[in-house]
Amino acid sequence: MEKGHAKNLKKPTGKLGILIPGLGAVATTFIAGVESIRKGYCAPIGSLTQMGHIRLGKRTDNRQPLIKDFVPLADLNDIVFGGWDIYEDNCYQSAKNSGVLTDAQLERIKPYMESIRPMKAVFSKEFVKRIDGPNVKTGKTKMDLAEQLMKDIEDFKKNNNCERLVMVWCASTEAYREQSKAHTSLKNFEEGLRNNDPAIAPSQIYAYAALKMKVPFCNGAPNLCVDVEAIQELAMENRVAISGKDFKTGQTLMKTILAPGFKARMLGVNGWFSTNILGNRDGEVLDDPESFKTKEVSKLSVLDTILQPDHYPDLYNNLYHKVRINYYPPRGDNKESWDNIDIVGWMGMPMQIKVNFLCRDSILAAPVALDLALFTDFAQRAGYRGIQEWLSFYYKSPMVAKGLYPEHDLFIQLIKLKNNLRYAMGEDLITHLGVEYYD
Ligand SMILES: NC(=O)c1ccc[n+]([C@@H]2O[C@H](COP(=O)([O-])OP(=O)(O)OC[C@H]3O[C@@H](n4cnc5c(N)ncnc54)[C@H](O)[C@@H]3O)[C@@H](O)[C@H]2O)c1
Repeated sequence: MEKGHAKNLKKPTGKLGILIPGLGAVATTFIAGVESIRKGYCAPIGSLTQMGHIRLGKRTDNRQPLIKDFVPLADLNDIVFGGWDIYEDNCYQSAKNSGVLTDAQLERIKPYMESIRPMKAVFSKEFVKRIDGPNVKTGKTKMDLAEQLMKDIEDFKKNNNCERLVMVWCASTEAYREQSKAHTSLKNFEEGLRNNDPAIAPSQIYAYAALKMKVPFCNGAPNLCVDVEAIQELAMENRVAISGKDFKTGQTLMKTILAPGFKARMLGVNGWFSTNILGNRDGEVLDDPESFKTKEVSKLSVLDTILQPDHYPDLYNNLYHKVRINYYPPRGDNKESWDNIDIVGWMGMPMQIKVNFLCRDSILAAPVALDLALFTDFAQRAGYRGIQEWLSFYYKSPMVAKGLYPEHDLFIQLIKLKNNLRYAMGEDLITHLGVEYYD
C-alpha cells in the first residue's frame, strides 16, 4: 500500500459492534471499563488508543497529537457490545462472579451490564475440559453451528443498528493442537466443517463465521484459532483483517520489557524461572494439562526471539527457561507472579533479579482488548487484510506471515505500530536519527 493510503478516511460515525465469544473476566472488565469511561467515572488508563500520543515530523515541529485525533478511530460512545457464553449469566452477574471489579464500580453501571446477555455458544468439552454450561448451540455438523453463528452476527448487526463489527475472542484457552489436514486449505476446512472433523475447534468455527460475514477477528487466547492456513486463506479472499494470539499482559509483558534491556546492554541470561498463582476461571481451565500446554508454548516463545541465542551464543545459549502456572483459588483474578532471573555480567560474574508482580490480569487485558478492537476496525476500513503484524504489540505470541519470525520486543513492536500509523496517514517514518555536530 502506498504511503498516505488512509489519509482520506473519515472518522467513522456509525455504530461499531464489538462481538465477544466468552463473556468472562476479561470481557466483562473490558465492557464495564468502556461504560464507566463513557459515564465519566474513570480515565482509560492502559489504552494506547485513548491516552497515547504520537510524535510526527521533527522534534522541533512540536507535533504530538493524541493517536485518536491523528487516526480516524471509532468513538467509545459509538461502541455496542454483544457476545456468547456457555453460561446464561448476564454481564453484571458474570462480572460479579469474576471478582475483578468492586461492588461499587459495578453498581453504578448495573442496568447497562445486565442488559448484555450472552447468545448461545458453540462449545466442545473436547477443547475445554474443566467447564461445562447450559447455554450451548446444537447442530448436526460444525457447518450448521457456523451458520447459526452467522445468523447471530447478522441479527446483532441489524438489531443494534451497527455499521461495522469486530470480533474479539475472550473465551477460555482451548486444548493444545497443531495444524492438521483440515486446517491446510479453505476447501479442506469447509469439508471438515461438514464432516465434523475433530481437529476443528469451536474458536475456529467462530472465526470462520466472522470472516464469512467479513467481520475482522482478534484472538485474545493462545489457542490455534486463526493461526492456520485455511482461515488465513479465507481472510485474504474475503479481505478481512485478523490477528493473534494471546493478549500480552502480566508476566509476559514484563518479560518483553526486561529482556530487550538485557540484550541492549549485552548482559547474559542463564536462567529465567517464572511461576504464577491465579485463582480465576482462566486459572481453573489452565489447570488442565492440555490447556496449560497451549499457554506454556505461548509464554515460552518470547525469550528466544528477543535474545537470539543463535547470534549471541556466549550470552544466551545456556538459558534455562521455565514457566509454571498454578491454580490457587483464594487469589481470584489477582494473579501473583515471581520471576527469578539469573543474569551474567562482565568477566562472567553472576547476578540475580527477582520480580514479584502482584497484578490484576483482567485489568491489564481490558485496554488491550479495546485497542485491538479499535485498531482492527481502522485496519478494516483502511483495506488491510490477512494477518495484522503491526498489532504484535498486544500479543504474547504474535502471528506472522509464513517464513517470518515474530517480533516480541515490546519497544520494536511499538515503533512498528506507530510507524504503521504514520505511513498510513502520509507522515514521515521516525528513524530517531539525531543532530550531530562535527567539523
Ligand atoms: N486475563 C488476562 O490477562 C489474559 C491474558 C491473555 C490471555 N487471556 C485469555 O483470555 C481468555 C479469557 O480470560 P478470562 O480471564 O476472561 O477467562 P474466564 O474464564 O473468566 O472467561 C472465559 C469465558 O469464556 C467462556 N467460554 C469458554 N468456551 C467458550 C466458547 N466456546 N464459546 C463462548 N464462551 C466460551 C467461559 O464460560 C467463560 O465465561 C482466556 O483464554 C485467557 O487465557 C487472558
